[in-house]
Amino acid sequence: MNELDEVVHKASLEFVQASTPADLENAKARYLGKSGVMTDLMKGLAALSPEDKKSRGAQINKAKQAIEAALNYRRQALADLELQIQLQAEALDVTLPGRQRGVGGLHPVSLTLERIEALFGSMGFDVADGPEIETDWFNFTALNTPADHPARSMHDTFYVEGGSAEAPNLLRTHTSPMQIRHAVQHVKRYRGDQPDLFKGPMPEIRVIAPGRTYRVDSDATHSPMFHQCEGLWIGQDVSFKDLKYVFTDFCRTFFESDDLVLRFRPSFFPFTEPSAEIDIQFQHGPLAGKWLEVAGSGQVHPNVIRNMGLDPETFVGFAFGMGPDRLTMLRYGVNDLRLFFDGDLRFLSQFQ
Ligand code: DAH
Repeated sequence: MNELDEVVHKASLEFVQASTPADLENAKARYLGKSGVMTDLMKGLAALSPEDKKSRGAQINKAKQAIEAALNYRRQALADLELQIQLQAEALDVTLPGRQRGVGGLHPVSLTLERIEALFGSMGFDVADGPEIETDWFNFTALNTPADHPARSMHDTFYVEGGSAEAPNLLRTHTSPMQIRHAVQHVKRYRGDQPDLFKGPMPEIRVIAPGRTYRVDSDATHSPMFHQCEGLWIGQDVSFKDLKYVFTDFCRTFFESDDLVLRFRPSFFPFTEPSAEIDIQFQHGPLAGKWLEVAGSGQVHPNVIRNMGLDPETFVGFAFGMGPDRLTMLRYGVNDLRLFFDGDLRFLSQFQ
């Protein structure tokens, strides 16, 4: 093997041994670089005679081409290898099941509200919606609630800006103001401009008003924000008997329990007379035998009927206010109200 063949051979060997593109470029520099072996050989030509220069030059060029060919061959091989590794790393297993997007769902309390609306809807009740920032008039005064009532104290109610000192604005403490708001709207439609208390004729008012309510209260069974659902039925001969069957029917359907027992326990609310707390008792399951309070109710007070613009000698009815949060806890066996409002998906996703 002549000297040039040996150089080509050595270079090819070093190229093959280079295991990374960087190694390969270093090896290239040793042969083809500015102070590489081949460059030195070319420089040696200067000292030769013109004929020798020609033949030696041709030999060196041939050797150089052979080295370049070996270099390119190795470059391609290393690039192929790199691609191979990359393809393997990025390999897609098309047989794996697709990663699904999380499917959202309704909050358990929303499920309850929808259920309440559907059940009362099937009994001919409309659904009304109203403001969470209320005036003192709708939240208290119109509901026959006297100025010294404890619910009006700073400790129980969130007062907000707006309104006047005598009639401050507040976050509604219950959904009962919707009794007045809805009734006034309803009555307006039939009474025209008549200023006196309206005696009819007028279709009955049958409505529920679910929504958020607020009180300064916070523990395992009280949250500063909670839900209520108001119910109101006003007509010419609506009685406590109607309240009893409507609410009994609702509770038995809501809890899917035909033998659920209800108790109407005498109580007091400023806006009803007489008033009753409604307790329920399950006959089966972990809560069987216990009385559980689910709503306040009563015959709408004549003063409240008046504030609706109606003549209390003509119109009577009942109202109730229940706690959808409580109903949700009872239905699903949840023991801490705060779980509903923490936003923890581990809890919430159990209801989907
Ligand atoms: N608003 C009452 C409360 O928050 C609940 C209530 C009681 C509503 C009796 C009514 C009712 O409509 O008739 O405690």
